[in-house]
Amino acid sequence: MAKITFIESGGREVVVDGSVGTVMETALEHDVEGIDGNCGGVGACASCHVHLAPEWLEKLGKASEDEMDLLEFEDSVCDRSRLCCQIEVSDEVDGLVMEVPGS
Ligand code: FES
Repeated sequence: MAKITFIESGGREVVVDGSVGTVMETALEHDVEGIDGNCGGVGACASCHVHLAPEWLEKLGKASEDEMDLLEFEDSVCDRSRLCCQIEVSDEVDGLVMEVPGS
């Protein structure tokens, strides 16, 4: 079980418990605004773009080249950008915090 915090662009914090699947799937289950998961999590749409909290960027690492190929078309891309469909929920992400950029 992992506690995951999404900070929506309007400032609302959505704190959820995730246990299986990806962070994107967890966001969809809890109606996190700004995460759409349009491609189903295969890394082809960038509709699951998030900005990881700095301490989590260190733990989970920066976006892969494939992620960056998609993210380069996003207005709000930054050096903390990740596609949250590429992050698996596990005990290792307990306490994960991320911001969901506005569209
Ligand atoms: S859900 Fe499409 S890239 Fe993550």
